[in-house]
Amino acid sequence: FDPKYIRNFSIVAHIDHGKSTLADQLLLQSGAISQREFREQLLDDMDLERERGITIKARAVAINYDLDGRTYELNLIDTPGHVDFHYEVSRSLAACEGAILLVDATQGVQAQTVANAYLAIGNDLSIVPVLNKIDMQAARPEEIKEEIMHTLGIDPDDVLAVSAKTGLGVPDVFRAIIDRVPPPAGDPKGPLRAMIFDSKFDDYQGVVTYVRVVDGVLKVGQKIRMMAGGTEHEVIALGRFRPREVPCDELGVGQVGYVVANIKKLSDVRIGDTITQALGGASEALPGYQEPVPVVFCGLFPASHNQFDDLRTALQKLALNDSSFSFEPETSDALGFGFRCGFLGMLHMEIVQQRLERESNLALVQTAPNVTYEILTKQGETLHISNPTRIPDAGEVEEFREPIAKVNFIIPSDCIGVIMQLCEDRRGVYIKTEYLSTTRAILTYELPLAEMIYDLYDKLKSATRGYGTMDYELLGYRAGELCRLDILVAGQKVDALSVVVHRAHADRRGRKLVRKLKGEIDRHQFEVAIQAAIGSRVIARESISALRKNVTAKCYGGDISRKRKLLEKQKEGKKRMKQVGNVEISQEAFLSVLDDA
Ligand code: GTP
Repeated sequence: FDPKYIRNFSIVAHIDHGKSTLADQLLLQSGAISQREFREQLLDDMDLERERGITIKARAVAINYDLDGRTYELNLIDTPGHVDFHYEVSRSLAACEGAILLVDATQGVQAQTVANAYLAIGNDLSIVPVLNKIDMQAARPEEIKEEIMHTLGIDPDDVLAVSAKTGLGVPDVFRAIIDRVPPPAGDPKGPLRAMIFDSKFDDYQGVVTYVRVVDGVLKVGQKIRMMAGGTEHEVIALGRFRPREVPCDELGVGQVGYVVANIKKLSDVRIGDTITQALGGASEALPGYQEPVPVVFCGLFPASHNQFDDLRTALQKLALNDSSFSFEPETSDALGFGFRCGFLGMLHMEIVQQRLERESNLALVQTAPNVTYEILTKQGETLHISNPTRIPDAGEVEEFREPIAKVNFIIPSDCIGVIMQLCEDRRGVYIKTEYLSTTRAILTYELPLAEMIYDLYDKLKSATRGYGTMDYELLGYRAGELCRLDILVAGQKVDALSVVVHRAHADRRGRKLVRKLKGEIDRHQFEVAIQAAIGSRVIARESISALRKNVTAKCYGGDISRKRKLLEKQKEGKKRMKQVGNVEISQEAFLSVLDDA
């Protein structure tokens, strides 16, 4: 296929602005899918994506489109919109020459519209700005075009207007892509270079990699070499998504597809690596991706001890499909053997945990999330610590530093006051306010990352009646009055419950924690004391009085089925219990430390 007639592009947008619907509409209008299939959001095929109605994984689909008597091959990469999946977006963009920047004509420019547009501009992509949902009564196309010009410097005349739902205006999108996005510029005769931008594990085929060919040709039967990894393999099958897998014999310059090469070892494949031919291969690899930096960490432990190895395998498989999370083994006195995992945000953490549980059938116990801290010790050593239990005692710490983020909120102007209060309560430092239009503003604050990961997003949504959006970037570490708060249950320190708090909030936080835990830990046959302490100083204490009654005692009479049900329920709850000394603590208790106030 002549690369002149190939176009590679992604669709980027703020969450829910209609990317997946537009992608499906493009498939429909090019004849790749039927009207019936259009309704099904074909590209979001992961169960979790369908349940939540969001895109988590990027997808690449090849479609053919005829224009002015020529057939063009369009490779479309659908990307997620949520800030936690930024890394998926940036990898997809590196495989493209253009991007459709989609903006909901009823909502206007939102925080991720700006962030994703800059990502595309930074990757030197041609941008095709498109307003979506113009079929809706509430659409304000002219006003939103102004906003796009104001925030991104895009000429209003270049902005297309469509309805992804009805298909109105979509033919113009095809034309704009063909006219405005440049064809791929690789060397068809040069040695093979193909960029691995994603992969997955298949029980039968081994590791399947998704690539974009930059130079040369990739063929079935060819011997290939991973340039960074160094391993060699033989290509067994190649193909493209149309949107179903369709095998082919070769992939040329600019083409995007999957490669099956009988790779059984998960570590042989690295996202961002370059595939070349084993004989006479390229000497220089393609520039890879910037490694994503996890910002939120938590411990994941198997609910039953004998599943540690299963959890390791599950993490390795998932890492292949999602290279943006990190994991390393850790041991906890309370929870046994498990892993400390790093994520790009709270939603990412939730999704990874759910994918692990579903795709590998594991029950997990998760500890409260936290950020990485930088500690300067009295000995002059600088430590980076992502596990609160490892933080040295206060006496050994010279300076305690925490990550700070610059946060942009795009909000209705009448909400500025509430959001400022929200930030002040979270130790925020005001930077500036800019107006997007008479009714909307961009408010910028510097906030400790730890203060924003838990519930800032939810609070923002409720304070702005759902209209506010936010985006953030990390600035670095800054010293703060921080300390480690430990929790003791029945006199024993529960390492997995340690948290880092600001000194000014320590007493309140400690009191709240023990009170909360009191409600979460079941009564035992003996009295259980719960204490919060900083170093050796106890700052709060509660106790759970001893249990007197048997749970089934209230089922007097002969109702045996009810009795059995109660016992079943107890057993169910126990699955997620952990034994600390002789006290049992539930998953909810571990998560309750998360609840800030
Ligand atoms: P994420 O993948 O989660 O980022 O969302 P998305 O950008 O892919 O949005 P999606 O395509 O899932 O659309 C979000 C909602 O908007 C869905 O309920 C769609 O049916 C609706 N929608 C999308 N395009 C249009 C449109 O042109 N008109 C109308 N009326 N609704 C639309």
